Amino acid sequence: RNAKRQTVCRDDINKLNTEFLAIYDSLIPADEEKAKQKKLLTLLEKLVSKEWPDARLHLYGSCANSFDFSKSDIDVCLVMEAANSDKSEVLLKLADILQADNLQNVQALTGARVPIVKLMDPVTGISGDICMNNVLAVVNTKLLRDYAYIDVRLRQLAFIVKHWAKTRGVNETYRGTLSSYAYVLMCINFLQQRRPAILPCLQGMRVTYSVTIDNVECAYFDQVEKLRDFGSRNRESIAQLVWAFFHYWAYCHDYTNDVISVRTGSTLSKRAKDWTRRIGNDRHLICIEDPFELSHDLGRVVDKYSIRVLREEFERAAEILQYDPNPCAKLFEPY
Ligand code: CTP
Ligand code: MG
Repeated sequence: RNAKRQTVCRDDINKLNTEFLAIYDSLIPADEEKAKQKKLLTLLEKLVSKEWPDARLHLYGSCANSFDFSKSDIDVCLVMEAANSDKSEVLLKLADILQADNLQNVQALTGARVPIVKLMDPVTGISGDICMNNVLAVVNTKLLRDYAYIDVRLRQLAFIVKHWAKTRGVNETYRGTLSSYAYVLMCINFLQQRRPAILPCLQGMRVTYSVTIDNVECAYFDQVEKLRDFGSRNRESIAQLVWAFFHYWAYCHDYTNDVISVRTGSTLSKRAKDWTRRIGNDRHLICIEDPFELSHDLGRVVDKYSIRVLREEFERAAEILQYDPNPCAKLFEPY
């Protein structure tokens, strides 16, 4: 399947490329917005260190992995030795501190699967969530950011895919579709498998960065400034890549047998991972291996109904990109 070269067969591909790049530009957050995020983080750091001098705050998620659209919320992770104090207690205390400093809409959601404190800063207008000790998310955020640095086409492709997923309503894990994190991993894996490859497999290279978190070893080559022209032998444009991405997920991916794996830069068999049958709520109808938590399938939220929605959306996108005379308008039509 992968040996067969996929090529675009429309003659207005350059026009489409210009349109995609314009959408990408319009979604990038402005410098002043990033500056405001930084300002808010500095304020939070000041408040936190007054109460817990040894605690650290880290940004994670899209505000730190370079895949954020303008007007995104920030995700913050509070890291501290919580062995002797319980998480809910810390988060409730944190909520009090934030409230006392006039942050708005402060809410501690201690019963959630991932307990957080929500807040809104009236000075910058930025909202955020603070979670605790979710260090793996901080490290996978770095991995995504490092991949994005290598070739700008990853960020461009992921922006178009995320924008498509949000407007088409297939970026909602609580309704059985995929997280933004899963879509970015799909984009990375796709670019690793282009020929010539556009992205390397950082976890298959010499280790220059290594941390162990909750018994999970996270190790890869992170000197990405040395890989700046890695993808230069491949001259595919963003329009060609978007076309091929949807073509792959509509017609080429083997949903019955394959797992996509950024860790190996390739696909693995479901059998090798023992992801062939439903266990509990994990159905493995579309399989995306987490790069570090290897038992974690990011497709596990997808159920027998939402897999149909998802695959029909991939097919719809592929058809539009192939045949529609005005593909941009149609592709991002609200569902
Ligand atoms: N994350 C994770 N495992 C998941 C989902 C998310 O580790 N199953 C972590 C990742 O570090 C990810 C972050 O949580 O970067 C935020 O996830 P998500 O909201 O899906 O991605 P964002 O990049 O923040 O996207 P959006 O702009 O849509 O908020
Ligand atoms: Mg987010």
